[in-house]
Amino acid sequence: MAKIVRHPNVADYILEMSLDEIAQRPSGLMDLFEDGKLVVVKNYRLPFDFSAMEALDDRTDSIDDQKIRRKLKKLEATTFFSGKDPEKIIDEKGDVESLRFDTPLRQALFASFCRSDPKVFANASNALRTAHDELTRIFKLCFPTYETTRLISSLRLTETVFENLHWDNHSIDDDFHQARIFCNLDRRKRIWNVGDRCIDFMEANYAKYDLAQFAGRDPNEMLSYIAGDILGGTRDIWKDDRPRHHVAFEPGEVWLGESRMISHQIWYGQRAMVYMWFVNVNSMHDKSRRFNARVEDLHARMAANLPSSSSHESIAAA
Ligand SMILES: [Fe+2]
Repeated sequence: MAKIVRHPNVADYILEMSLDEIAQRPSGLMDLFEDGKLVVVKNYRLPFDFSAMEALDDRTDSIDDQKIRRKLKKLEATTFFSGKDPEKIIDEKGDVESLRFDTPLRQALFASFCRSDPKVFANASNALRTAHDELTRIFKLCFPTYETTRLISSLRLTETVFENLHWDNHSIDDDFHQARIFCNLDRRKRIWNVGDRCIDFMEANYAKYDLAQFAGRDPNEMLSYIAGDILGGTRDIWKDDRPRHHVAFEPGEVWLGESRMISHQIWYGQRAMVYMWFVNVNSMHDKSRRFNARVEDLHARMAANLPSSSSHESIAAA
């Protein structure tokens, strides 16, 4: 199980629920997820070949094409196994010597991450396909009525340490809903801190930081302002003294949360998978709980001096 240290001055929005418990709820996790809960899947570890990831090389400097190199750095797990099976190039002894792919991106992935080794590619591809199928199964169980329009299947293969506390900013100003599932693909723990939720922070600090200036604007601008100018971003991380919960996720552990709503920072982590589905807002449990609508609602309530309706837990003021 994940080790969780809860801070008494931060709203306790972390839940631990088994897949059976989730399946028994008619709305799965939809209502809880939309309400800004972080849910750790209890008694579950992804069945995964960790050694298949350890065999990958995360260097991309052998690839000259800058466009392809950028895509490799933001690698999607599905790149390994979607598309046509590669053509096998057989050597004189009848062994598979190399592979020929139908796209330059997959060929570059084979040359860099897999060091042109067909076995490394096959193992990684099989492991990631299994993980993909499993995360898709968990998605359907947790979000039974969500209709999706797009999936971004990010694969993180490099070490991350001491991120700044932030709310995700996708640089997309569309009014969309996202469903996010995280999984630790490393044999080591993945350490996160999680702090204020966006709406709680806004509400407690609205006048102090003149957040009314962001009313009617893209909420991403406000998130960048708070995480960067107020909390210091990555450059002045010392400015951030907000209280936070600590969570250490086990190898293969899975968790879910709306990362624009929940402030988070990776304190330490190696390999991981982040699946982000774009969801048709009309298929939500309650579409008024989508991120943009909640930010707009907060601005409206603040302008009218109305009391909070956004959070069921205690709010820590700055
Ligand atoms: Fe993030």
